[in-house]
Formats: sequence, structure tokens, C-alpha cells
Amino acid sequence: MSESYIQNLFAERIGGKNYGKFAALYKFEKIKRAKRAALAAHPGAEILDLGVGEPDEMAAPEAVAKLEQEARRPENRGYADNGDHVLKDAAARYLEKVCGVSGINPETQIMHSIGSKAALSILPAALINPGDVVLMTTPGYAVFGVHARYYGGRVHNLPLVAPRRFLPDLSSIPPEFLGKAKALVLNYPNNPTGAGATPEFFAQVVAFAKENRLAVIHDAAYAALVFEGKPLSFLAAPGAREVGVELHSASKSFNMTGWRCGFVAGNELLVRAYGDVKDNTDSGQFLAIQHAAAYCFDHPEITARIAAKYSRRMSGLVEVLKKSGFNAVKPKGSFFLYVPAPKAAVLSSGRRLEFRDAEEVSQWLITEKLISTVPWDDAGACLRWSVTFAAKDPPDEERVLREVASRLGDVTLEF
Ligand SMILES: Cc1ncc(COP(=O)(O)O)c(C=O)c1O
Repeated sequence: MSESYIQNLFAERIGGKNYGKFAALYKFEKIKRAKRAALAAHPGAEILDLGVGEPDEMAAPEAVAKLEQEARRPENRGYADNGDHVLKDAAARYLEKVCGVSGINPETQIMHSIGSKAALSILPAALINPGDVVLMTTPGYAVFGVHARYYGGRVHNLPLVAPRRFLPDLSSIPPEFLGKAKALVLNYPNNPTGAGATPEFFAQVVAFAKENRLAVIHDAAYAALVFEGKPLSFLAAPGAREVGVELHSASKSFNMTGWRCGFVAGNELLVRAYGDVKDNTDSGQFLAIQHAAAYCFDHPEITARIAAKYSRRMSGLVEVLKKSGFNAVKPKGSFFLYVPAPKAAVLSSGRRLEFRDAEEVSQWLITEKLISTVPWDDAGACLRWSVTFAAKDPPDEERVLREVASRLGDVTLEF
């Protein structure tokens, strides 16, 4: 069959005329395939999924009730465009009450998003010209960088490593990248390391951004999921509003990943530019969803409950992994536990398996132990364990954790 002419139409940014022909298997696809294969090999067995990056629970019943009520209002039916005042006002109250950030003008300094992913894909259009550089932390959530590249931008990666408490070394950026840099993208509490930032670090970021004329994009998707202390907002740093924006989301904080709602807050010019591009990208999130999200942002006790659950599960997981030799330290927030991957496993038969990288460990864990994790080899070989595993109540959580311990119990891991 001759090739469709459509094949020759694709833009270079997605592979041009070779699009789809040499598709490398991406990490998450490999994990999915390995899970399917493990299930096929062990029909009826339970896969312990500690790889998932989204909550195992439904949104709070009050949020669902609010959605239902708002969905019935005729005035909410149409295009939301850049949104009404309801979510903006709730977001400003949330920033003040939960994050201690006062004086944000909801009219000019806040705009809703159809989730942080959508905002991270829109913002590069407002900032990046061909040749511009984006400074991004690695390992991390790549969406801003992917879109920056679509616009001809380049990404300079800043490794996150344990000795620096997973904070990037801003002094390490070579002048040829720094000179062309337009944006610095950060994410704390961090996916995948679970690390939190500090007020000192954020103050350093503000000074660095001013000195180097950078826009700071702080992705706070896990903002209020903290296990100790109060959530730390970048916008709380003096001068932050002069240099950047912060992205908040209802997805993880309120178990609303599928609802697609969040907000961008901070620098007025950046918010306006985001809104202008957004207005030409989507027609806004359904107002009923925005209003239900607003209800949640006004009820941070919902997040506190969710964080308490993750904290409990995290303590249990840390203990289990430590017993198997992992260097597991409970993070301060998020739902991710990030640990160095083993270099080898000695099986009960005495056979010794060597692992080249974290990806091999993760594949072995799924295939042989039916435990799903996410490997990261970007800045050292590490595994990300997520405490969003499916469990209906605390006894069930304990059962899952006992099962993890038992499945790891017959091997000796070498680090
Ligand atoms: C760091 C980070 N940012 C953003 C997102 C996407 O969030 P949202 O559901 O608000 O688009 C995720 C989701 O996994 C994430 O891990």
C-alpha cells in the first residue's frame, strides 16, 4: 500500500515525515506494557501499583454535590472563556489563608487553568522565541520544556540530587545558556523527588531572576500536600510577584485530576499574557467545574485530610523499604518517595541479577514481583514510589504494605 501523503505533512517538531516510524517506547508506555504482561503471566494476581501519579480516591462528596448544583444553573452553561470571578476570588482567599500570600488582586493577578498541564503548555507561547533557553529541573515534569522546544526554544537541565536536598544549583548554569535564558521552571513539593523548597531558596530564586531577567514559573501542583508545617508558596517570597507566577491545581490537592481545574497567579503581565494565549487556545473550563473547584479552595481542610492519609501511608512505606535496604527518608510533602535504585538483587536461589539502571529495576519489580514503580535515570538511578496505591481504608493500606514487604522479602538487594 502506498504511503498516505498525510505522512509528509507532519511538522519537524513531532518528527516530520518520519513521524511515528521510529517511535521510541516511552517510560510510561513500557510500564503499562510490563503491567499487562505481568497480569497475563499471573492471571488474577494483584499488581501493587505504587507507580500511579494520581489519587486513588474520589473528590470529596461536597465537591461532587457542588458540581451537580452548579451544573443545573443555566447561566453556567456556555463558554467560560477566561472565567468569571468565582474561582479567582476563592483562589485569592486560598493563597492568603493557606499560603500566607496577601494582596493578590484576583481580577488582574489570577486566571483559571484547565489544569496545570494546560497552563504549562500555554505559557511557552507567551515567552519563547526560537533560540531562547528554558532552565528546567531534572528529573521532572517536562511539559513546559516540550512546548518551549515546539517554539524553537532550548532546554538547559538542572539536576536535582540528594546532597543538594533536590534544589537546583543556580550557580552551575554556563553563561552561554544563562545569557539566552528567558524562564526558570521550578516545582515544589517536587515530582518525583518529594522534596520541598525553603524560604531561603525562593528568596535566592527571586534575586537570581531579577539579576538575569528571567520569568519564574513555579508549578505548585502538590502545594498543600505537606506532612509538616505550612505549605510554602513561591509568591510568599518578597519580590516574587515581580518575577513570576505560581500554578496551583485542584487535581492532587482535592482528588480532582479528571476535573481539570486550577489557576495561575502572580505577576500581572505574565497572567495577562497567559490569558491572551489561553483565550486563543481553549474556551475555558466549564463554570460548574470552576465553581466546584472554588468551593474546594475555600475548604483547605479537605486537603489536610488527604495529606494526613498520604503521610500515614508514607511512614509505612518508608519502614517497609528500609527493611529491604532502601535508603528511604520520609519526604516533607507530595505523595512520592524517591529512593536510589538497587544495583543488584540476589534471589533465594542464590542467583544474582545486576541492574544497569533504574528502568531495569522497575521492569524486574513489575515482571517478577508484580510491584509497579516509576524509574528515573535522569540524575542518578532512582525509583519513585507513590502512596496513591489503591486501598480502601487504613487496614487495607497496611495489607498492601505487608504485601510489598512480603514480595521483597525473599531477595537481598545490593545498593
Ligand atoms: C509536577 C506536576 N505538574 C503538573 C501536573 C499536572 O497537573 P494538572 O492535573 O493540574 O494538569 C502534574 C501531574 O502529574 C505534575 O506532577
